[in-house]
Amino acid sequence: MTLIKENTYNYRVVRQFSVMAVVWGVVGMLVGVLIASQLAWPEFLGGIPWLSYGRLRPLHTNAVIFAFGGCALMGTSYYVVQRTSNVRLFAGWLAEFTFWGWQLVILAAAISLPLGYTQGKEYAELEWPIDILIALVWVAYAVVFFGTLAKRKVEHIYVANWFYGAFIVAVAVLHIVNSAAIPVSFMKSYSAYAGVQDAMVQWWYGHNAVGFFLTAGFLGMMYYFIPKQIERPVYSYRLSIVHFWALIFTYMWAGPHHLHYTALPDWAQSIGMVFSLILLAPSWGGMVNGIMTLSGAWSKLRSDPILRFLIVSLSFYGMSTFEGPMMAIKTVNALSHYTDWTVGHVHSGALGWVGFITMGSLYYLIPRLFGLTQMYSKRLIEIHFWIATIGVVLYIASMWIAGVMQGLMWRAVNEDGTLTYTFIESVKATFPYYVIRMVGGLMYLSGMIIMAYNVAKTIMAAKPVNNAIPALPHVSAHA
Ligand code: HEM
Ligand code: HEM
Repeated sequence: MTLIKENTYNYRVVRQFSVMAVVWGVVGMLVGVLIASQLAWPEFLGGIPWLSYGRLRPLHTNAVIFAFGGCALMGTSYYVVQRTSNVRLFAGWLAEFTFWGWQLVILAAAISLPLGYTQGKEYAELEWPIDILIALVWVAYAVVFFGTLAKRKVEHIYVANWFYGAFIVAVAVLHIVNSAAIPVSFMKSYSAYAGVQDAMVQWWYGHNAVGFFLTAGFLGMMYYFIPKQIERPVYSYRLSIVHFWALIFTYMWAGPHHLHYTALPDWAQSIGMVFSLILLAPSWGGMVNGIMTLSGAWSKLRSDPILRFLIVSLSFYGMSTFEGPMMAIKTVNALSHYTDWTVGHVHSGALGWVGFITMGSLYYLIPRLFGLTQMYSKRLIEIHFWIATIGVVLYIASMWIAGVMQGLMWRAVNEDGTLTYTFIESVKATFPYYVIRMVGGLMYLSGMIIMAYNVAKTIMAAKPVNNAIPALPHVSAHA
């Protein structure tokens, strides 16, 4: 029995995480649609406190980032590190702990946030007992991942693992530093930092949550699944290494762009702006590397909806990493900050990049985890792709228009120096765009539900899996 295990990959934990990514995707996006409806129709869901906007909003962000994104990242990283290292996952029991521990974190978030327990720090709302559990699970995750790399049978460490590895290390550091707090009771604590230092630590965390959770990990996915689906090696391996070092070095300094025109010293704000502008280069280097992997095989895009998910995700990545540096310029930020432009930017990254790369990777991965060569229905993948694409476009276009409009209305002044518009006038003017955003979100959610159905049907047709580790001579850099 042990011998058989030694000679096979551990797909069990990959299956668990992959299936839960789909489940949490549906849940998190459903909550997204609910809060989008609340913004359009504030009376929606009545006056029930635990369904109020202020409680559901962090539930949405936590569910989509940490539950949907987190499960997808952990599942795919466990798969990729085994396949590219040619060994079984290190410490299977610990990997199992990361799965159940992470589900427990998600459950605790889903209960405590609607009840109103929060530290009030965006993307780090969860109270201290849950923070401790997150730290434990994350350290276990690091041990499993790096333990597997340490016992690898292939000398080379494929670049996808570099990105996953940086994501794991950075998130551990960010979480532990930003969550430092003094507990005053069970489920109530105060931040260890105060005033502007607290704000700076929070946005050092917040921006690197974008850089490492929502970007570096997913770039790991990109570097494995895009070459796999195209069946050719990545366009430039050298570029991927430059991309890696430039990206992780630059991201760390860009956080202050979230605090323009605040009490943060001006020089710190300027550093944030300059590093954000520099960040355009590595981001686009990565995008070009992914897209150019297709060169000579563009025609595949016409017939392969999975590849379309993967490649279109990169165009959204390029778009949001162009827009981000522009918004980091102080004078542009003076207009965009506090408006729905920021929300549009977030979702072009979140829906277009994070969502699409995950969906494409899972469509590739799930049949293989269940002993099949393809998903139950290619047609449904096709429908998912189009409905989601139209949904993203409706979401981000409406938010751009609403955002720029809000910014311009708020700053408009009459000749005598009084404001041209009252705030409520800008709220009224935004209403139609909120409705369009809700429709776009509903379409995106529908696509996710179609995916869940397709995945369920695929799993029902599961066959015994051939997860044998190939003998060494056949190993290639990206097995
Ligand atoms: C059906 C899909 C989705 C809908 C309808 C939706 C809707 C919303 C809404 C209405 C907000 C609040 C905006 C505000 O405060 O004005 C929001 C915030 C947010 N959502 Fe989504 N969302 C969806 C999917 C996602 C996904 C997949 C992710 C990440 C992977 C994501 C990440 C976020 C983040 C990070 C915020 C906070 C933005 C900020 O503070 O500026 N969302 N979403
Ligand atoms: C070169 C890369 C990027 C840069 C320089 C950048 C820059 C910015 C800037 C300037 C803001 C507005 C800050 C404010 O006014 O408060 C922002 C907000 C945000 N961006 Fe980006 N961005 C980049 C890429 C991305 C990507 C790829 C994603 C998602 C996958 C993303 C997610 C977010 C989120 C979630 C926020 C909202 C934070 C909040 O206020 O809650 N960004 N970004």
